[in-house]
Amino acid sequence: MKNDQKNLKFPKDFLWGVSTSAYQIEGGIINDWSQWEMSEKRLKELRDKKLDCHDFVAGSACDSYNRYEEDAKMVKDLNCGAYRLGIEWARIEPQEGEFDLEQIKHYRRVLENLRGKNIKTVLTIWHWTNPLWLVKKGGWSNKKTVAAYARYLEFVVAELGDLVDFWVTINEPTVHVFQGYFKGIFPPNKKNLIQGIKTFLNLTAAHKKSYRIIHYHNSEAKVGFAHSCSDFYPARRWFFPEMILSWLFDFFGNFLFLNLVRQELDYVGLNFYHSNRLVWYPPFVKNLNREVSDFGWEIYPLGIYEVLKKLRRFKRPIYIMENGLADATDAKRAKFIIDHLRYVHQAIEGGEDVRGYFHWSLMDNFEWAAGYAMKFGLYSVDRETFARSPRPSAAVYAEICKNNGIKIE
Ligand code: GCO
Repeated sequence: MKNDQKNLKFPKDFLWGVSTSAYQIEGGIINDWSQWEMSEKRLKELRDKKLDCHDFVAGSACDSYNRYEEDAKMVKDLNCGAYRLGIEWARIEPQEGEFDLEQIKHYRRVLENLRGKNIKTVLTIWHWTNPLWLVKKGGWSNKKTVAAYARYLEFVVAELGDLVDFWVTINEPTVHVFQGYFKGIFPPNKKNLIQGIKTFLNLTAAHKKSYRIIHYHNSEAKVGFAHSCSDFYPARRWFFPEMILSWLFDFFGNFLFLNLVRQELDYVGLNFYHSNRLVWYPPFVKNLNREVSDFGWEIYPLGIYEVLKKLRRFKRPIYIMENGLADATDAKRAKFIIDHLRYVHQAIEGGEDVRGYFHWSLMDNFEWAAGYAMKFGLYSVDRETFARSPRPSAAVYAEICKNNGIKIE
């Protein structure tokens, strides 16, 4: 790496990319999320809060199912060498054991199109959403789901494997468990500790199985999962209860899943959004929030550096699979990117093996329970016409990708 005061260069072959997920951009998908969005309970909850229900139904999303060529061109215009995208289980296996070859053909076209543009493909197999038949059988808290997932994956690997550069088996397992089974705000909307623990363990088993299946087909494959890690730190550095607390949050929130699957990892996939400053009394998180995103998440770039250092223990290359913010006016995005990348660069200088950075997200999309109000995109998307327009920060990111570095004023 060559540096001068103004120009921080990243290692040669550093992978620059952007991320999306199937359900958030494709449109027209019927699964457990779409079912929940239309449920009486959910609609009533939104009406009671005087919110417009249409903003909370994924519906046509960004229509990327039809506009994938345009999306790939946007990736190219950003000078990115890679694109992380998802496939939808409910499309590929609409009925248990019945695979839809037309959908496979579709995803082959999507991936071939990226290959044709010399964009590396990072494919997420499971990003929180499930076919309805699976949910009827108890979903992820049922151990049999691991076998169902493995069968789906076998099929995908056989049909699409030649077009995939990096595999992301599972997206943010801990967030799925926390939001779906502890807080009950994502499907399956339960508050059930036992089912949450079962789901967590079944997801570890699914990842391990995937690793073996993918490597059986291709011993050179790069397999990992995308893990949401937060920078947990004690509000008072030497105050024992808060130190213990950050250790516990690190242990359960950041490291447990990684520890359980550490033998089955070719890389560590990090999704980093925010830090959590911990105090000893409930609700334990008390951020200073000097600057926040539209989501209310504190902007704290140093956190990415702290997390990268903590991930060293796993002794694997690290790819930042997601980092971004909700910022409708785009006032903060460019600075956010540069400030985070500065710390990523510092981590690399300090010896951390970071090999890539994927910004979340290529374009505004369906932000789960928060609906369409949260704008994470480098491109905005018109909700009526689906027209995509680059925000000013897109040019800044494109320049970074092109130069393989950031310029500091
Ligand atoms: C996630 C999700 C994304 C979100 C993003 C912003 O992995 O949390 O993968 O789907 O949209 O994180 O909240």
